[in-house]
Amino acid sequence: MRKTSLGVHNFVLGGVRVTSLFLSSMATRANALKSAIADFWNAEPCGTRYLSQSFDFDAHAAERYRLEPYIADFAQFSSSAGLRVLEIGVGMGADYSRWLQAGARATGIDLSSESLSRAAERCQRMGLQADLRQADAENLPFADDAFDIVYSYGVMHHSPDTARCIAEAWRVLKPGGSARIMLYHHPSLTGLMLWLRYGIRRRQSVRRCVYERLESPGTKTFTRNEVLALMSKFDNVRVRQVYSPGDLLIHRPSVRFQGRPYQLLWTLFPRGIIRRLGKSLGLFLLITGKKPHCSTQ
Ligand SMILES: C[S@@+](CC[C@H](N)C(=O)[O-])C[C@H]1O[C@@H](n2cnc3c(N)ncnc32)[C@H](O)[C@@H]1O
Repeated sequence: MRKTSLGVHNFVLGGVRVTSLFLSSMATRANALKSAIADFWNAEPCGTRYLSQSFDFDAHAAERYRLEPYIADFAQFSSSAGLRVLEIGVGMGADYSRWLQAGARATGIDLSSESLSRAAERCQRMGLQADLRQADAENLPFADDAFDIVYSYGVMHHSPDTARCIAEAWRVLKPGGSARIMLYHHPSLTGLMLWLRYGIRRRQSVRRCVYERLESPGTKTFTRNEVLALMSKFDNVRVRQVYSPGDLLIHRPSVRFQGRPYQLLWTLFPRGIIRRLGKSLGLFLLITGKKPHCSTQ
């Protein structure tokens, strides 16, 4: 018996290498989860719930930046002219179009073909030349050291191997390049509300409840310390915590939350008090870091 670099025991049973069986079943599960994630976002590209008409891109962008006013400051679109930008997980392409408008040489990827076609349609209507590709954040089809900025807003926590997404972002960044990544935080008001609604009676943890119930299947959340560990190869890592629209129930409720009790909750929700008391319970972590100029792989 031999221990592999992954710490998995490698031995032969009836002529079959058990390590490879174990790893291939893990890979099969991750691939099945990834297809379920793509199916989810194909059925409801991110942000479509804000819209009464599914191709009203102006309404989508207006609502997005009203509900999440911190995006512009975090992304810094306006200082990207002439830079090579990679956006991972473009969704309906609101932010992606802003990189192009600002004069960046921006490439966008997503796992979901439906999201990509909406993003392409948005760019075409705005007269912008898009470079959009279907690709996986865990295996980016780009050379090392190719981009000045890698931006990913609310994406990597949906992918089965978030650490691998971050390692890929690091790989494709030029030395000195900037990563801007939003990940979901644990604990959060959104997580706690889901847990109160679904988790308690099933005796699930808050994280398990988020994993099963928040958007696509398998969504993960991270503490600040976990984020710092994920970003350990980056310099100047900064993490800012903000409320998501869901933390304050200021977004339009999804189809799951349309009944009378939810209407009452949305009306009576004590937003003012929560804004003051729950400052450490925001769902969104806005993370920035730089790839060092001299780095070892
Ligand atoms: C919550 S949406 C965010 C989209 C966009 N960034 C926004 O803020 O509107 C998550 C997006 O991530 C994409 N996604 C999830 N896992 C991915 C992966 N492994 N590679 C590429 N895209 C992925 C989904 O298809 C979906 O469009």
